Amino acid sequence: MSDPAFQQCINPVCRATYAIDEVRVACLSCGSLLDIQYDWGKLPRVKSLNFFEHRWSTKGTQVEGRLDFSGVWRFRELMPFFRSEDQVVTIGEGRTVLQQADLLARQMHIKPGNLLLQYEGLNPSGSFKDNGMTAAFTHAKMVGARKVACASTGNTSASLGLFAALAEMKGIVFIGSGKISFGKLSQALDYGALTLQIQGDFDACLRRIKQIATNVPAMGIYLMNSVNPFRLEGQKSIMYRILEARGWDPPDWIIVPGGNLGNCSAFGKAYAELRELGLVKKIPRLAVINASGANTLNALYTKQGLRWNDGNVDRETIGKHYAALDEANYKPHTVASAIEISRPVNLPKALRALETMNGVVREVSDDEILEHRAMVARWGFGCEPASAASVAGLRKLLDEQVISRDESVVCILTGHELKDPNATVQYHTGIDMKSVQELAPRIEPRGKLSNRPIQVEDSLEAIIVAMGGDPALVEGMEMKQSKSVLPGIEY
Ligand code: F0G
Repeated sequence: MSDPAFQQCINPVCRATYAIDEVRVACLSCGSLLDIQYDWGKLPRVKSLNFFEHRWSTKGTQVEGRLDFSGVWRFRELMPFFRSEDQVVTIGEGRTVLQQADLLARQMHIKPGNLLLQYEGLNPSGSFKDNGMTAAFTHAKMVGARKVACASTGNTSASLGLFAALAEMKGIVFIGSGKISFGKLSQALDYGALTLQIQGDFDACLRRIKQIATNVPAMGIYLMNSVNPFRLEGQKSIMYRILEARGWDPPDWIIVPGGNLGNCSAFGKAYAELRELGLVKKIPRLAVINASGANTLNALYTKQGLRWNDGNVDRETIGKHYAALDEANYKPHTVASAIEISRPVNLPKALRALETMNGVVREVSDDEILEHRAMVARWGFGCEPASAASVAGLRKLLDEQVISRDESVVCILTGHELKDPNATVQYHTGIDMKSVQELAPRIEPRGKLSNRPIQVEDSLEAIIVAMGGDPALVEGMEMKQSKSVLPGIEY
């Protein structure tokens, strides 16, 4: 390929490549996930990470100033898939900070200075998702997309809604009915996204939207979930900012909650590339924390020993695990609704990241999540329940002496505290505001911009109609809601 940036299948026996301006969410030949790859030799060389420091001081509203202002694009030489700087869709995302959390450290019996919180709730839509959306929207603009869509536990839909509004694209979000926290739902509605509440959970929503994006091209949907490899390019920047805040000295540990496993996959890719470019000497260890009610990664990685294995991931083990979930009619269930996912689409990439970063996986209970969420807030910051899984996971790893109290640890706080006020109110008062909402009287919304969510049954035809499409497009195509509906490999 002459373009120094291209897309490539992660399956080592396939490695098919695709041009950067193709729209793909899976490899055409084998169905595996795709990576964005760079031929670094053909690109301007970054000799040292110090190079990025001067950008903090760039001023102005011109393109260079706007890109330097973004905590994602000030590292643009490390994600050079765009063709021209004018194409970048940025709203000032990623200006987040690494906080030294000494008060919390004291509670956790960690040395002052050794516990750091990367506060991604400070993003424009209140979660880390904006880091990825800016990159995926840049690609969407490059390829002329008009309609963008995602399945979401909430934050992806909020972020998509915001970027779609500003990029003047039609935003469509699929959310599992009754699953999303109120803060996140309110954002999707407010930004004007067509909000479809599908009868089912996140996994069902993701299957449907992938099905439509792949098999119903006439709908013209550009998929914004983290199977979109451009999302992960932007999410790499979280690692760069942590390095930057530490004078380019990697911490000993990075701890992150795991849901669909896009974030941890991006972190592994960031470090693999920094190592390849000779820009870091040390790679931190990674800990990915599941909620016990949505613990696929922990079950497979820690309990069953599943590994990346040079890309030859043991699909039989995964298949058996999913078959057992189906058999038991298992539904993921956790107070951390953001990570209530039992079929994480980025599983193979997460296994690769765990290998790159010598990682561990753990799960934490809802009580542990809620207690640690309250501690994070009480001692200075604030985050939504899923984010606190990272701090609860740290506690577990300290107790197990996997992490020592002398090591430097960064916990990623993935979403803002106000994303899920119900969880907070219920923790402090015992009142379940969500069930009170069910009883609230309903009136016809009268606002000029009112944007009501639409309830849709989990059927392809009903969803196409709700999206404004012609049901004839999918005639005879109805597929059962089983994992076999997806083309290619479903891990
Ligand atoms: N924390 C928060 C606050 C999230 O919203 C998510 C994912 C995660 C952690 C997990 O990140 O999927 O990269 O492993 N939320 C997605 C959504 C799934 O739809 O908003 P992951």
